[in-house]
Amino acid sequence: MGRDPRYDILFQPMKIGPVTARNRFYQVPHCNGMGHQHPQAHAAMRGVKAEGGWAVVSTEECEIHWSSDITPYIEARLWDDHDIPHNAMMCEAVHRHGALAAIELTHNGPSSSNLTSREALIGPRHEPSSYHPWQARRMDHADIRDYRRWHRDAAIRAKKAGFDIIYVYAGHDLSLAMHFLQKRRNDRSDEYGGSLENRVRLFREVIEDAKETVGDSCAVAVRFAVDELMGDGGITSDGEGREIVEMLAELPDLWDVNVSNWKNDSVTSRFAEEGYQEKFIGFVKQLTSKPVVGVGRYTSPDHMVKLIKSGVLDFIGAARPSIADPFLPKKIEEGRIEDIRECIGCNICVTGDYLMTPIRCTQNPTMGEEWRKNWHPEVIAPRASEDRVLIVGAGPAGLEAARALGQRGYDVHLAEATTELGGRVNREAALPGLNAWGRVRDYRLYQIGKMPNVTVYRDSRLSADEIRDFGFEHVVLATGATWRKDGVGRSHTFPIRGFDAAAVFSPDDIMAGRLPEQGPVAVFDDDHFYMGGVLAERLRQQGLDVTLVTAADTASSWSANTLELMHINKRLRKLGIAVVTAKDILYYDGAHLHLACVYGGGETKLPAIAVVSVTARLPEEDLWLALDADRPALQAAGIKSVTRIGDCLAPGLIVQAVYDGHRYAQNLGRPLSDAVPFRRAMPLVTVPS
Ligand SMILES: Cc1cc2nc3c(=O)[nH]c(=O)nc-3n(C[C@H](O)[C@H](O)[C@H](O)COP(=O)(O)O)c2cc1C
Ligand code: SF4
Repeated sequence: MGRDPRYDILFQPMKIGPVTARNRFYQVPHCNGMGHQHPQAHAAMRGVKAEGGWAVVSTEECEIHWSSDITPYIEARLWDDHDIPHNAMMCEAVHRHGALAAIELTHNGPSSSNLTSREALIGPRHEPSSYHPWQARRMDHADIRDYRRWHRDAAIRAKKAGFDIIYVYAGHDLSLAMHFLQKRRNDRSDEYGGSLENRVRLFREVIEDAKETVGDSCAVAVRFAVDELMGDGGITSDGEGREIVEMLAELPDLWDVNVSNWKNDSVTSRFAEEGYQEKFIGFVKQLTSKPVVGVGRYTSPDHMVKLIKSGVLDFIGAARPSIADPFLPKKIEEGRIEDIRECIGCNICVTGDYLMTPIRCTQNPTMGEEWRKNWHPEVIAPRASEDRVLIVGAGPAGLEAARALGQRGYDVHLAEATTELGGRVNREAALPGLNAWGRVRDYRLYQIGKMPNVTVYRDSRLSADEIRDFGFEHVVLATGATWRKDGVGRSHTFPIRGFDAAAVFSPDDIMAGRLPEQGPVAVFDDDHFYMGGVLAERLRQQGLDVTLVTAADTASSWSANTLELMHINKRLRKLGIAVVTAKDILYYDGAHLHLACVYGGGETKLPAIAVVSVTARLPEEDLWLALDADRPALQAAGIKSVTRIGDCLAPGLIVQAVYDGHRYAQNLGRPLSDAVPFRRAMPLVTVPS
């Protein structure tokens, strides 16, 4: 099927200074936990995006100089010529598929750590580091000259590496160029401080420097946060943000505009809809003739067309939509809209950066595995045999295994105990704000629906005998997990006294609509990610008095890794949910939770007519235990393998379930081995002189 003419406008080539993008799909900078430490994996990941049709493929933040290291985070580096080959590798991969390569140069000043270089941080003024208990020193004129030279030198190295677009970065409250713009950071009395014109001077100079040094053949882009979402205390899109765009309007070759800081820019679907930045960035195109890129978790081609036609954007910028589906542009071009694997806005991709590990994506299990495992988001090896596969359970693991095995051409039989397909995704997507998570199910069901070799059986709870009777060569158990409600979990290795009461509920109860009839209700969150907070919200929706109790120092503490910590905590308070931190449960007497401070101190009592225990889960492994107990019977039935995947193996996040299902499908028919199952970048033992 060809492209719908409605979308032709998205495929117009666009000039950006001296270079031309083949269409309007622009992968904006995004880090990935690979950067300079995993250059091959990084290059391959970017190459796949180019193959998928993006016209511009950008790096993540790239440190221009060793005095700006952001260790332990793993980003790109261009400290000196030794870093050129790593970056050139990405340019080659991107160019091979006809896209332009962009690099986001930055010196992060007080937002660096310099834990590697041990150099003193620098900034517009003496001020504490953004994250650490030490300070940045005020830059003098020699420092400013040095910084400009480092930026020019890095631009030259970027050009040598093969980049087509060189960024000057003033975004996310992270870079020197932005810090000089900010009233609250810049208290200088020289020509770089005071009036807005003075505060803009350094940004202007660095853009001019880049144009002068590499602008003959490379486009010079800026990434600028037009609004910091902090009112008059920061840059605002109807104040200085607008004035700055006015002042520099025609200077760069492209404006990539967004909001700041990162948690506001990459906001999850729980807290914002597609297009959430438009009200802030909408003004930019009226002030410049240069192309404008904007972001907002764009996955709908109709929405994209509207943005172009209504003069909001020239390029559709995307980080997460390009991670969830590197082939998004190609699918629109080929008239395969329904095949788009839409980002669910969960920010698991962001955890790669925070935890300094290769990027993962809930929707796209091949993300980060392009080089490591030679996986491709659209292509998979054909089946290795005519073996048939029975998958028991149609949650995220079972659905992905069925989809990928089906794509390989296997004869797949997917049996689901209930009448609904989707498993935990159905239950969780019905919780407040998590509706978009249903895309995990929807994408897979649509794909499976097209596969004549995948048969789905609903309402089919199977026994071990029935499984043996079918005699399919391979059995996959994807039966999920169940939340326990005895309180056992991270904080308690034995059941909590009193948790056997009828008034104690599990997350499964709440998701199944079995709610306490009256409050006050205490949610004991020993899981620390989204579930405790979201269930508290669900109970509050019901009009109940709710208190979230956690032994951690903040509610939903792990959600710092998905940029949601602040959003969740604000929402809990806004909804009137009380939050009790650093308290563990001693026992429950049916009317009160008896609590103790984790740091010591006396016992306190919290009134609780009902308790929701969010602690741990147990795999649904009865089938496994029954089948595994009688291996000779399996053999007699012609069953070659029985494998547990997803939560049935070890309860985890949805991203892990999808990955596990995919991995099973990739590996079926491959010989078992003790070898490391992925490639690693091994550091050279020679030291550059
Ligand atoms: C995993 C991840 C890493 C990111 N890293 C960067 C970065 O290095 N530099 C940057 O300017 N923006 C970074 N961003 C922000 C994105 O470029 C983008 O502005 C934001 O995610 C909103 O766009 P989206 O809705 O298309 O994801 C990152 C976003 C994600 C999801
Ligand atoms: S991890 Fe989640 S937010 Fe990130 S790209 Fe994938 S689906 Fe989107």
